[in-house]
Amino acid sequence: FGSLKEAFKEDFLIGTALGAEHILEKDSKANELIKKQFNAITPENHMKSMNIHPEWNRYDFFLGDKFVEYGQKNNMYVVGHTLVWHSQLPRFVGKIKSADSLKLFMTDHINTVAGRYAGKINSWDVVNEAIEDDGTFRKSIFYKLLGEDFIKMSFDLAAKADPKAELYYNDYNNEQPVKRKATIEMIKKLKASGTKIDGVGIQGHWSINSLKIQDIEDAIVEYSALGLKVAFTELDLTVLPNPWDLKGADVNQNFENSPKMNPYPKELPDSVQTTLAQKYEELFKVFLKHKDKIDRITFWGVEDGHSWLNGWPVRGRTNYPLLFDRNFEPKKAYQAVMNLK
Ligand code: XIL
Repeated sequence: FGSLKEAFKEDFLIGTALGAEHILEKDSKANELIKKQFNAITPENHMKSMNIHPEWNRYDFFLGDKFVEYGQKNNMYVVGHTLVWHSQLPRFVGKIKSADSLKLFMTDHINTVAGRYAGKINSWDVVNEAIEDDGTFRKSIFYKLLGEDFIKMSFDLAAKADPKAELYYNDYNNEQPVKRKATIEMIKKLKASGTKIDGVGIQGHWSINSLKIQDIEDAIVEYSALGLKVAFTELDLTVLPNPWDLKGADVNQNFENSPKMNPYPKELPDSVQTTLAQKYEELFKVFLKHKDKIDRITFWGVEDGHSWLNGWPVRGRTNYPLLFDRNFEPKKAYQAVMNLK
């Protein structure tokens, strides 16, 4: 096979997140790679409310429109990301004090954004990250003012604004047992109340040092047993040490010159390259085993140089979490995944 999308054609969609430089076709090498390898796209930042709805009475659809056009022109599965999320919110939302005002905002936002792209978006990440790792609801502004009803409200509004789109609940660590259990309860309630929900997105921001394949397999099986599609929506595998282990250290510093936190500033050693390949192979084996339950595998970025993990959760590091390197060349991990077909 000449590409990921061809190799896994019968199994699942293969997606990537796009930045502005991709959407606007400013980077010809990247765009060549995107069109060759991927058949699904997610906007990394440009449909988040902060960007698409910067003020109460102002929307900015420039990059959102271009993104949707890009997908249509290239026959790709187009993902909308994301309608309701506690992060990357416009500033005016932080000032909302009443449930009624927040409802007004959400109603206007979902009707306007999902309505504008109705019929053109294949699936929406309707609500993102509403549950904490300990299984309780995140104390976001939405939860604080509206309680867990904000989730039902969001899905119902999205279903009305774009009846054709598949509606997903998306989160990180939701393969882990405690969070998974809480998520399943939440989804069962939604379904019992007559709300339309079509899928669960497992973000898949994982690490080569702590990948728990069994949790991932259990999550695929259990979510699918609810009658939902499963998608891996933001896959990447960090190869760097976990900064949360830096007890007491200032995580706001730039870690460029820290041999401990930024051990591979120039290139990834062969041994780690091999570990990364092995981890991706293990993952894709499980994905293939459950291909009947999985709709899509989307990588959070095109190549290592454009990954958010170079700047998160601490700044200044050089990370290598994807299948393509900074020269747009396939890595050992790419070969490992392709060898499964
Ligand atoms: C990240 C982007 O990749 C960054 O560019 C941005 O600065 C912050 O958000 N979960 C999500 C994504 O659902 O939207 C986040 O994307 C990564 C975590």
